[in-house]
Amino acid sequence: MPALLHLKGQKRDFVSLADYSREEIWELLRTAKQLKVAHKAGQERPALRGKTLAMIFQKPSLRTRVSFETGMTQLGGHAIYLGPDDIKLGVRETLEDVAKTLSRYVDGIMARVFAHRDVEELARHASVPVINGLSDREHPCQILGDLLTIWELKGRVEGLTLAWVGDGNNVCHSWLQAGPKLGLTLKVATPEGYEPLPEIVEYARRFGPERVTLTHDPAEAVSGADVVYTDVWASMGQEAEAERRRKAFKAFRVNKELLRRAKPDAIVMHCLPAHYDEEIAHEVAHGPQSAIFDQAENRLHAQKALLALLLR
Ligand code: CP
Ligand code: NVA
Repeated sequence: MPALLHLKGQKRDFVSLADYSREEIWELLRTAKQLKVAHKAGQERPALRGKTLAMIFQKPSLRTRVSFETGMTQLGGHAIYLGPDDIKLGVRETLEDVAKTLSRYVDGIMARVFAHRDVEELARHASVPVINGLSDREHPCQILGDLLTIWELKGRVEGLTLAWVGDGNNVCHSWLQAGPKLGLTLKVATPEGYEPLPEIVEYARRFGPERVTLTHDPAEAVSGADVVYTDVWASMGQEAEAERRRKAFKAFRVNKELLRRAKPDAIVMHCLPAHYDEEIAHEVAHGPQSAIFDQAENRLHAQKALLALLLR
């Protein structure tokens, strides 16, 4: 059984990929692969029998909610969905009290929040592992599933180039925190004013300044790329900016013409949900180069690895 993530007597959170080393990320990916193979062969062990995960959601979700809940079931455990109206996180009582109370009942907490500091605060006060299921700043679980997908489809991660087309948002930030550390080159194309946070770019460049390029030209980023990745123009919580963003992002649409600039065997990725009249054309998202439903599936296997290692 893997040992890297096992700190004697200490809990380990998964709030940010910046907290995980290259070796630990690979350990999670290898475990995910083993669990996926075992599940498909009908040989899965109930590694989390009797364990419970609390899932706090301040925002809507399809993939995160269903993959975490299904993952707990497949591992022999149980998950409790706590939607926006159930506990009213930060309104009804303090985050500290929520974290301390939940820690007396459950074996792990997954939280999807608006403000990143809220998931950090839950982690600070909980005595059980806290997993970030998306914040305004980061989406580490997404990138774990995506890395598994790239590894499966391309046979490797190191040495590949991923073009990011669109907003320098939470998903882009998590890519910056994991990609260069694993030897991936990131070419990030955003409109002016929508670049990723400078401190996260700086962090990524520690793993090789040549592994991170920022541009405002999507064609430049996509040229010769192995992976073309995009996400919504306006994330959850940015609905009021949607109109302004639609104008700013008009040229940042992944369509057939843009994709032709990538390598002929490039794959297209999107974390979903997608807007087919905006950031990605339906024919590309559902075309032969698309990996989007492999990504969606791999959320399940990657998060099961996380649960199995953190909640043991
Ligand atoms: N990609 C993702 O996190 O999807 P949901 O918002 O549906 O969970
Ligand atoms: N950037 C998007 C990702 C959704 C999974 C959002 O935060 O809404």
